[in-house]
Amino acid sequence: MMGTRRQCYRSSLCVMASLSNGLLSTVVVLSLMACMAQAQLSPSFYVTTCPNLQAIVASSMAQVVRQEPRMGASLLRLFFHDCFVNGCDASVLLDDTPSMIGEKNAVTNADSLRGYEVIDAIKSLVEAACPSTVSCADILALAARDGVALLGGPSWTVPLGRRDARTASIAAANADLPPVSDGLANLTARFAAKGLSLRDLTALCGAHTVGAARCANFRPHVYNDANVDPGFATLRKTTCPAAGGDATLAALDATSPTRFDVSYYRDLMARRGLLHSDQELFNGGPADELVRLYSTNGEAFNRDFAAAMVRMGSMSPLTGSAGEIRLNCRRAN
Ligand code: HEM
Repeated sequence: MMGTRRQCYRSSLCVMASLSNGLLSTVVVLSLMACMAQAQLSPSFYVTTCPNLQAIVASSMAQVVRQEPRMGASLLRLFFHDCFVNGCDASVLLDDTPSMIGEKNAVTNADSLRGYEVIDAIKSLVEAACPSTVSCADILALAARDGVALLGGPSWTVPLGRRDARTASIAAANADLPPVSDGLANLTARFAAKGLSLRDLTALCGAHTVGAARCANFRPHVYNDANVDPGFATLRKTTCPAAGGDATLAALDATSPTRFDVSYYRDLMARRGLLHSDQELFNGGPADELVRLYSTNGEAFNRDFAAAMVRMGSMSPLTGSAGEIRLNCRRAN
């Protein structure tokens, strides 16, 4: 709670500074709303009702990541895609029903998001230990945190107490999840609309220090963009032809694809970002300075990434009696 209070305090200072500048923007209001929502979550939420929760998630994740390191990355992305669509409410985990088309088939998610079965397996263990108590949304938040730490990144205290949505929306997912073609101005605006700053955006994109992308997503950048190192583009084209091979994977951070480190930012400075949206962070714009900072200062990156994950993870949670504690993460009760 202390951390939450400190962040609210910081956010209020921001509001005051903005007001004194006569700049009361929608962004400020949204970040205040995000902060108020965050205040309803608490790291100790399950201390008495499910004392073994964090140990169960941690040991499952250790096993999963040992078996397939990329899964740490996949669960981190799953959490991001959950939070950006109506808040972190596990809506992304819902399967389609005859009356609802959910988020799994949204443009950015279909044939791409991974890790649903990992959350199912952890949920089964958690249900056995603490029936009808822990939300799928909280399990996903903890799994994402543990995945990052297991790959060598920072760890942080996760505020808990989110409840699960009863519905999901493919339309909201298509509207709110950033496409890879976005420029920096669009990315900044999308994150600002969620109460997240340019600093949060730049730190959170550091998640691309792990995991992989499909040729369909990096082809436009390596074939058409000017701000690409020519040797890097040639290398990527060898496995990603101009047509076909859409599903062929390349590491988002070729230097150390399973290590959560700062080489993503070093690659950006060498114009070796894999995605158009990645290289937008270092293209002569306002994020350049942060990229430079993170490229040489792992401590600053880890600190900012962890803080941004807590902020992102606290966006518009369902709390109290809103939503439900799903029994099966794929279906509303
Ligand atoms: C800022 C806008 C972002 C865009 C446009 C974007 C786009 C993408 C794309 C296109 C992929 C590859 C998907 C595929 O080819 O199947 C990807 C992968 C990934 N993204 Fe992002 N992303 C963004 C931000 C983030 C954020 C904020 C996080 C987490 C905090 C994140 C975490 C990841 C991870 C870990 C992977 C690798 C997943 C895996 O290997 O399974 N991304 N992203």
